[in-house]
Amino acid sequence: MSKCVLVTGGAGYIGSHTTVELTAAGYDVVIADDLSNSDMSGVEGVRAITGKEIPFVEMNCLDREAMEKLFSDYKIDAVIHFAAFKAVGESVAEPLKYYSNNVETFVTLLQTAAKFGVDNIVFSSSATVYGQPDVLPATEQTPRKPATSPYGNTKQMCEDILRDTVAASASLKGIALRYFNPIGAHPSALIGELPKGVPNNLVPFITQTAAGVRECLSVFGDDYNTPDGSCLRDYIDVVDLAKAHVTAVSRMLDGKNKERYEIFNIGTGRAVSVLELVNTFEKVNNLKLNYKIVGRRPGDVESVWADTTLAETELGWKAERSLDDTLKCAWEWEKRVRGL
Ligand code: UFG
Repeated sequence: MSKCVLVTGGAGYIGSHTTVELTAAGYDVVIADDLSNSDMSGVEGVRAITGKEIPFVEMNCLDREAMEKLFSDYKIDAVIHFAAFKAVGESVAEPLKYYSNNVETFVTLLQTAAKFGVDNIVFSSSATVYGQPDVLPATEQTPRKPATSPYGNTKQMCEDILRDTVAASASLKGIALRYFNPIGAHPSALIGELPKGVPNNLVPFITQTAAGVRECLSVFGDDYNTPDGSCLRDYIDVVDLAKAHVTAVSRMLDGKNKERYEIFNIGTGRAVSVLELVNTFEKVNNLKLNYKIVGRRPGDVESVWADTTLAETELGWKAERSLDDTLKCAWEWEKRVRGL
């Protein structure tokens, strides 16, 4: 019988791509999402790609009663917890919204999982926990830096909550995946990133500028201590990232984990500058992007990229998609959304 994975936040950007890859790998999936930062188009896209009527439950993960009903309605074997808010600036303005929605939710989920004997949890963490590392690339042993936003703090807190809950349990297993910069969209262009309002992140801003929704991309700073002066990041294709979740779930369900709590960096291991990304987008999509260099964005780190050795050797996972293909898919998705 297929194992069933609960994907919280499965209507969202990374959750929808992960649901597709879990289904392709033979897992049953149930999606729980309150649609606060997404809509049914993600679920419909997943159903169209997989050809399966993936069950969807509209609920907030803070709702303990709804959560318990979900765990009794489905025989869940593992949970991937994506449901969270992710806007750094908003988290500074409304910290309690973030502590409640990101931390309280996770506690409720872990309590419910314990009550129903569900022992396998994957948590969506972020490279933001490293801040600006002193040594690059960042390995999983690179010290975490004090968080500079409530959002970043919730990621650190939830990692610790998972670690401590695993330590206190005789059977619980947990994996935290630290994502670098997820970008791109499914090659079918049926699912992708749908930011509400003005995008904070680079790639949605680029694609919206190319589509004429935004007038001009601001490149935040060209005076950093990097080869071309713009910031360096590790951009990971969302389909590759989704597959990392499948390997993490399988590792736990197959009893292959070495420790009961493990952390993996999920990136490409390659540093790409903002200007290189912009130029690559223009080249592979054969268009010119309207952009200008402006001052640095407060809070940005200069450079961060992953050492992915552990994910490669332990998970057997490696990023496969090229930046060219990823940026082509990002553009195809934007064009479809805009009807271009
Ligand atoms: N950038 C621009 N112009 C834009 C948007 C971004 O030049 O309009 C630059 C940024 O300065 C940065 C790079 O593009 O150098 C990437 O920026 P993103 O906002 O896409 O991503 P960040 O690396 O800032 O964000 C990541 C994660 C967040 C996390 C954050 C913490 O996506 O979830 O790191 O710093 F909170």
